Amino acid sequence: MHMKNVLVIYYSQTGQAKQALNAVLKPFEESKNHHLTYLLIKPKKRFPFPWTYTQFFDVFPETVQGIPCELEPLKIDTNINYDLAVIAYQPWFLSICVPINSFLQTSDAKILLAGKHVITIINCRNMWLGAQEKMKKRLLDIKANLAGNITFVDRSSNLVSLVTVLAFVLKGTKENFMGVFPKYGVTDKDLEHAPVFGKIIMDNLENNNIHNIQPQLNQEGALDIRGNLLLMEGRGKALFPLYANYISKKGTQGSEQRKTRVRIFGIVLPTAILILSPIITILSRLLPLLAKKKFAKEIAYYSQNTLRES
Ligand SMILES: Cc1cc2nc3c(=O)[nH]c(=O)nc-3n(C[C@H](O)[C@H](O)[C@H](O)COP(=O)(O)O)c2cc1C
Repeated sequence: MHMKNVLVIYYSQTGQAKQALNAVLKPFEESKNHHLTYLLIKPKKRFPFPWTYTQFFDVFPETVQGIPCELEPLKIDTNINYDLAVIAYQPWFLSICVPINSFLQTSDAKILLAGKHVITIINCRNMWLGAQEKMKKRLLDIKANLAGNITFVDRSSNLVSLVTVLAFVLKGTKENFMGVFPKYGVTDKDLEHAPVFGKIIMDNLENNNIHNIQPQLNQEGALDIRGNLLLMEGRGKALFPLYANYISKKGTQGSEQRKTRVRIFGIVLPTAILILSPIITILSRLLPLLAKKKFAKEIAYYSQNTLRES
């Protein structure tokens, strides 16, 4: 059997993306038949953790608009021909997080990924559909083939994880917030299941059959797609670019001039989620009954890796 070269690209603020990566890639580490090269993407100016309220909402416009930040020089030999690339990333505001999105816009990314098969691994709260649509587009633009996607989400209800994610990113509190909330993030159970995905990737890579392994990954529950969140993300997708524009018109990232608009957004967004969540949850229970075919079609669309023609 031919040894395979796998490039693993990732960014992580608190190590959760790396944890998911380690879990998925366990079969590779154990088999020792293949070579893994890790490439950690580092912004020149580090994003804070925990974030202040204003810092957190201030990155919203450029994140949604896909504007790149400067990166540390990549420590990678672009002459190596990789057999597979794995990209582990987090959605930020229904978009690709800035560091990974910046990497994807570099000339090195083009050299490394053009003509290559890519597996994406997402770790997030629970809303990843919009970010992955942007990922599909970026990969298509650099002529890479998205062969599979695996998601790791917080499985609590949307309102519970809204509170716990904010406690996490704004205070750094991950467990037992206010003594009543559950731990934020991916469960140990989901991480223990993750090597199953790595095995699917490895077997197909060894058999040169890695072009589209999504159906096999889906059989093992690789994608978490919830009807209510699908509807919720639809709202965000329509409104986010407008609000991003409204803020960035006032000034650049970090500037005083736009702070008022950033703060208003910081109140409007959580409030909107709070109000919309119950309504959308009811709607999402009704829609499969009222518009069964359309709803099933949407779920099927997000379960695969091609991009809808718009
Ligand atoms: C600025 C920012 C925006 C975020 N937006 C989303 C989002 O749109 N959807 C989501 O599911 N999670 C969102 N999250 C949560 C992250 O996806 C993720 O859970 C968290 O950043 C931990 O990842 P890490 O420790 O690997 O960096 C956001 C986090 C940050 C910091």
